[in-house]
Amino acid sequence: MVKHIALLGSTGSIGRQTLDVAARHPDRFRVAALCAGHNARLLFEQARRFKPSRAGLLEEPGRIPDDLRGLDWVFGADAASLCAAEPSATHVVHAVVGMAGLPATLTALEHGKQLLLANKESLVAGGSLVAAVVSSLNERRVGDPPIIPIDSEHSAIFQCLEDARSKSIKPDRLILTASGGPFRTWEAAAISKAVRSDALRHPTWMMGEKITVDSATMMNKALEVIEARWLFDMPSERIDVVIHPQSVIHSMVSFEDGAVLAQMGAPDMRVPIAYAMAYPERISTGVDAPAFGTLGALTFGEPDEARFSSLRLGREALSAGGVAPVVLNSANEEAVAAFLSERIKLGRIADVVESALAVIPQRPVRSLEDVMEADRAAREFTRCSLSG
Ligand SMILES: NC(=O)c1ccc[n+]([C@@H]2O[C@H](COP(=O)([O-])OP(=O)(O)OC[C@H]3O[C@@H](n4cnc5c(N)ncnc54)[C@H](OP(=O)(O)O)[C@@H]3O)[C@@H](O)[C@H]2O)c1
Repeated sequence: MVKHIALLGSTGSIGRQTLDVAARHPDRFRVAALCAGHNARLLFEQARRFKPSRAGLLEEPGRIPDDLRGLDWVFGADAASLCAAEPSATHVVHAVVGMAGLPATLTALEHGKQLLLANKESLVAGGSLVAAVVSSLNERRVGDPPIIPIDSEHSAIFQCLEDARSKSIKPDRLILTASGGPFRTWEAAAISKAVRSDALRHPTWMMGEKITVDSATMMNKALEVIEARWLFDMPSERIDVVIHPQSVIHSMVSFEDGAVLAQMGAPDMRVPIAYAMAYPERISTGVDAPAFGTLGALTFGEPDEARFSSLRLGREALSAGGVAPVVLNSANEEAVAAFLSERIKLGRIADVVESALAVIPQRPVRSLEDVMEADRAAREFTRCSLSG
């Protein structure tokens, strides 16, 4: 069966690698829709090559090239949702960055598409809303997971749970691995003064700028703990984080009998992307398995919450519930944007997120509007704090 893919965030790091996988397997995948933010030039090239039915951009460009006028074009903040809803799409690869992707996550699920999800911020900000839609879908269909994670750690856990899922065996603990980022061995004072060029030097992964900064502060791991909570219905106290600088083990699951399953591979996102796209099959990606004979040691250590306070903030926000994870995420998005435009040093990011969590009133999340309201409040607070 050919899978018809709507790709949201096609011009980004995950988006481009998704098209790389699709191009290797034209017999398996057809690109039904492409959506991006501002990079119209690259989107036009992609549209010429992959010939989607629908294409979208966050901002309407000055002009659509004559040869692409026949596509069904959509523009604006709703473009990602409209592309997710493209009728011919059976699957949505969601690789938009940031919680702006939440409406498209909900739309994809509500339209019955299988969601191949890289956009972790959706689950951090809207986990309870997404879980409610998923549980209504589970009542209607059996055996076909509505969401397959693309994030490498969650893909690893999803793969480790394949056998357990079919036997209804519950895992005991989820163990998320973290490379530790570029500042793993730095002193706290130096981390706090780090600048953009320091943070964008990730030791093992090539990724978009926002997630690379999140990896440097370890906010990425905090977001991933929350993402795992919603994807695998696991409480925070049974989700561990372990530092593993080689990034060979992408995450692990332990069971009641003391057995631990790990998923390994080269740090290349085409592997989890292809796994999600081809599920339940496996397809070639152009990525070789690690050469274990030459790898040397695989090492593990405890994360240091004194130097990386984002991890603590993530767990606190998750246990507080309500709008706290929204505030954590939105304040972080604003602070990372300020850091990337070189207005603040790295240490300010976690500080301002902690202040936002202390100041923005706690409320339950009952609707998308509750999430959006907390998002606006957190962004406004963060912008004001950082401009002062
Ligand atoms: N990169 C990785 O290796 C990796 C690994 C695990 C998880 N993830 C997750 O995957 C997601 C994407 O990461 P990335 O590294 O690929 O980011 P990225 O390189 O910055 O790409 C983001 C994509 O989203 C598009 N975009 C941004 N805002 C949009 C909006 N409002 N509407 C429509 N499109 C929008 C961008 O378009 P323009 O560029 O055209 O503006 C771009 O195509 C993130 O949630 C990240 O945490 C990434």
